[in-house]
Amino acid sequence: METGSSKEVVVATWEFGAACVDAAVHTLKQGGTALDAVESGAAVAEADPANRSVGFGGTPNRDGVVQVDAAIMWGPGRQAGSVAALEGILHPISVARRVMEVSPHVMLAGEGAARFALEQGFEEVDLLTEETRKQWEVWRETRAGEGENHDTIGVVALDSAGNLAASCSTSGAGYKFPGRVGDSPIIGSGLYVDNDVGAAAATGLGEDIMRYCACYEVVAQMARGHSPDEACSSLLRSVLEKDPKGADASISLVALNKEGAYGGSGMQKGFPYAVAAGAETRVLRGAGVV
Ligand code: GLY
Repeated sequence: METGSSKEVVVATWEFGAACVDAAVHTLKQGGTALDAVESGAAVAEADPANRSVGFGGTPNRDGVVQVDAAIMWGPGRQAGSVAALEGILHPISVARRVMEVSPHVMLAGEGAARFALEQGFEEVDLLTEETRKQWEVWRETRAGEGENHDTIGVVALDSAGNLAASCSTSGAGYKFPGRVGDSPIIGSGLYVDNDVGAAAATGLGEDIMRYCACYEVVAQMARGHSPDEACSSLLRSVLEKDPKGADASISLVALNKEGAYGGSGMQKGFPYAVAAGAETRVLRGAGVV
């Protein structure tokens, strides 16, 4: 566990999360809240065509259609919004925020989520790139790489007012069944925030993560006094003991507490996560539990 030297802290999953953290920090510096920061952070990965597991350029489902999941959570009032199996929208994280802010619901899925996004003024775009279309055509013939690509972007942030937020966005498992929904849009699984305690976000295989309500559990462990690192390890050890997949369960987590202490870990040693805590963005590696 490390403690941030400044009140404002942003943590994101994976090495590519460094660019997301930079965007989130920029938002905070402009006077944005932690909620604004986690939205702008996730948006960077969503717009990157080179990222095969988030948004534009994400690996499609077995029909060759990119279906994305995203969720956002804001500590004050424990507010949340999410979208699942959404098609044709560049920034699902912003649609999730709109669900939270202007609809009476927490989660919208499929066609209804797309209709809501269009009604809210989001533009329809094709999330499939020429490259991912060609890869899908190869997959149709070979079926190689099924279920790959779970490098979800998860961002957690603490702002100078002491409020916490989290975001999560993904195109999900590569070549998934149409309509398959992972952990990312599920509050408590892909992300969770308790403004009095901390925030967590997950990456990995949704089918593993959602069976353990992973992020709720991590925040609950922090509420019991565990550090962010200890809270992540505790959840992972519990999965290691209980799950038939054991160490092959694909779950990695980042966590941040109310005091600005942060941590991250995957099952195996070396899970990379990006952090900005008062200084420049660094990529750290989790200790693992195996
Ligand atoms: N963790 C992202 C997914 O499995 O969909």
